[in-house]
Amino acid sequence: MKAIVYTQYGPPNVLQVKEVEKPIPKDNEVLVKVHASSVNYGNLVLLKGKPFLARFAFGLLKPKYPIPGGDMAGQVEAVGKDVKEFQPGDKVYGDLSLSGWGAYAEYVTVPEKALALKPENTTFEEAAAVPMAGVTALQALRDKGKIKSGQKVLINGASGGVGTFAVQIAKEFGAEVTAVCSTRKMDIATSLGADFVIDYTKEDFTKSEERYDLIIAVNGYHPISAYKRALRPNGTFVMIGGSEKQLYQAMLLGPWFSMVGDKKMSSFLQRANQSDLVFMSELLESGKVKPVIERSYKLNEVSAAFKHFEEGHAQGKIIITV
Ligand SMILES: NC(=O)c1ccc[n+]([C@@H]2O[C@H](COP(=O)([O-])OP(=O)(O)OC[C@H]3O[C@@H](n4cnc5c(N)ncnc54)[C@H](OP(=O)(O)O)[C@@H]3O)[C@@H](O)[C@H]2O)c1
Repeated sequence: MKAIVYTQYGPPNVLQVKEVEKPIPKDNEVLVKVHASSVNYGNLVLLKGKPFLARFAFGLLKPKYPIPGGDMAGQVEAVGKDVKEFQPGDKVYGDLSLSGWGAYAEYVTVPEKALALKPENTTFEEAAAVPMAGVTALQALRDKGKIKSGQKVLINGASGGVGTFAVQIAKEFGAEVTAVCSTRKMDIATSLGADFVIDYTKEDFTKSEERYDLIIAVNGYHPISAYKRALRPNGTFVMIGGSEKQLYQAMLLGPWFSMVGDKKMSSFLQRANQSDLVFMSELLESGKVKPVIERSYKLNEVSAAFKHFEEGHAQGKIIITV
């Protein structure tokens, strides 16, 4: 089968198309014919081996997982003898980041617990946009942010892969949503249901009088003290991503700020899990959430897809079709 393979950490051009052995499923695994995958920040970490700490999971000197690709949507071709939930022909999707990656290939073997049935009303491309970015947005809002109906919620970095899901999911939880993005993304934020849209190139929301119950920092940079000021009493700040400065401030100062005041400030790490994927399937099937796709690349164009993603201004998700 064809697969994207890399043997050393580096820039996107270390990714090569190669012929490799088609995998054989173990007893608890499903063999899936991959139709689509997508690009996430986690793929960049895996590609570059940066930050260095990530190498303790991904391989110290060279990549432990030679075929990258976390998000996956495809069709089951065969199942191991202990597999109970799926059978050949099922259309499935999942996040393989905790089960060996490998989605940038024509076939992949996956433990059944990493999969869910693909929502009927989505294409493979749309489904492949969801597992990492959608579940990240869900877990940050619901589990870490404890979002409640009627709250004023601000999403900073609302127009990328995670942000476009976060706006829609926050609306679904009944929040009043303010989306922060650049000028050319304002229409998409409105179309996703945002009640207010702030153009970060013209206005710094941390300097306005407005206060929020929950702020989700998906991208960009503001000092953690500025986020704190923009929270209402008892408000919550959750840092998903953004500049390194933002990440380290949230990790180091967040716990201390939370101890000494009435505001909770923390960072957050997504973890793939089947029940959250099923939760996302329900949101997709009911039409309450729709993936936003900026562009699709073919498997042999993965390097170009990574270069595009690295620029940091995608509108929704970047998809790989297999
Ligand atoms: N904690 C976790 O477990 C976890 C999981 C997944 C992702 N992440 C992190 O989440 C972040 C976003 O991931 P993603 O997949 O959504 O990335 P993405 O698709 O590349 O997001 C890009 C978006 O960020 C926006 N942006 C760039 N600079 C901004 C700024 N100064 N202020 C506001 N928005 C800005 C861009 O909008 P404009 O073009 O309008 O500037 C673009 O739409 C990354 O840092 C990633 O590391 C964390």
